[in-house]
Amino acid sequence: MEKKIMLTGDRPTGKLHIGHYFGSLKNRVKMQNEVDECYILVADVQALTDNFNNPEKVRKNVREVVIDYLSVGIDPEKATIYLQSMIPEVAELTVFYSNLVTIARLERNPTVKTEIAQKKEIFGESVTYGFLGYPVSQAADITAFDATIVPVGEDQLPLIEQCREIVRKFNSIYGEILREPEAYLSQTKRIKGLDGNEKMGKSLGNAIYLSDSEEEITSKVMSAVTDPNRIRKDDKGNPEVCMVAYYHNLFSSKDEYETACKECKEGCRGCVACKKQLAKNISEYLRPIREKRKYYEEHPELVDEILIKGTEKAREKAKNVMLKVKEAMKLDYFKE
Ligand code: TRP
Ligand code: SF4
Repeated sequence: MEKKIMLTGDRPTGKLHIGHYFGSLKNRVKMQNEVDECYILVADVQALTDNFNNPEKVRKNVREVVIDYLSVGIDPEKATIYLQSMIPEVAELTVFYSNLVTIARLERNPTVKTEIAQKKEIFGESVTYGFLGYPVSQAADITAFDATIVPVGEDQLPLIEQCREIVRKFNSIYGEILREPEAYLSQTKRIKGLDGNEKMGKSLGNAIYLSDSEEEITSKVMSAVTDPNRIRKDDKGNPEVCMVAYYHNLFSSKDEYETACKECKEGCRGCVACKKQLAKNISEYLRPIREKRKYYEEHPELVDEILIKGTEKAREKAKNVMLKVKEAMKLDYFKE
């Protein structure tokens, strides 16, 4: 049977939040047990495509992201966590693949299009070659490991599609060397921000981080958006439009959630008490993650060791794939 090789990762541009937890991390923790090989990359080179002017930010967040991975339960014995910039084969593949993609096709990529529109403050009217081409480098990330399964969010689907196109083109010219990966849309869901925004993110200021202290969690929950029509405590409320109720559903027991909704609708629950209960539950929920996080923060040498080992292992794998690619492309000079 064909080996199941999973590969996915994140750009290290900030600490990870509960949106990442429900949207991808939880799923990775589960999947690491279900595949034959599992690679999780810290995409520092990709992070530079839209942070080229801020290398400190990327560098600083590499360790944060690895600590987040370890704290949620990604097990370095099962998953190989590695640094993208230390796999030169990926950069080489990116150059080779760049001949197989047209500029027009990249400009049509919906993920790239959306991001360019969001990043006007970085690019102005003219987008860099590197950013426009990052789908090519992402195709290299995936194929350098012979990955078959790529768990991603919906917004990343066009990148996987573009990778599949590159693979088909490569194989039609140089022979059947590369494998077409499948995108895997996890069953876990995207969660809204504290302000009700569909997306949770640092720039929106509506996220709870895995690293947040109990005090930070409480103060953020206190500022969450509630039913705007509810002014006095005995006004009848609508939990469906309240972010506090939305989060009770994720972090509180079923019983607590149902009671909150019922009392809110009847007008016999104060929003402040409701929020305090939620803050306590989120805090409890994240406690084990926070504690593991603290442990790794105090032992940076352990984190480095995991990243170095993972990167060494990843490099061996990518080297093997590269040998096949170079042979197929008639670039295997000077072999004895
Ligand atoms: N594009 C992904 C993100 O922005 C990160 C990433 C880089 C990735 N290379 C990848 C994801 C390869 C899956 C597979 O989060
Ligand atoms: Fe929201 Fe709770 Fe206030 Fe109802 S009582 S509006 S659920 S915070």
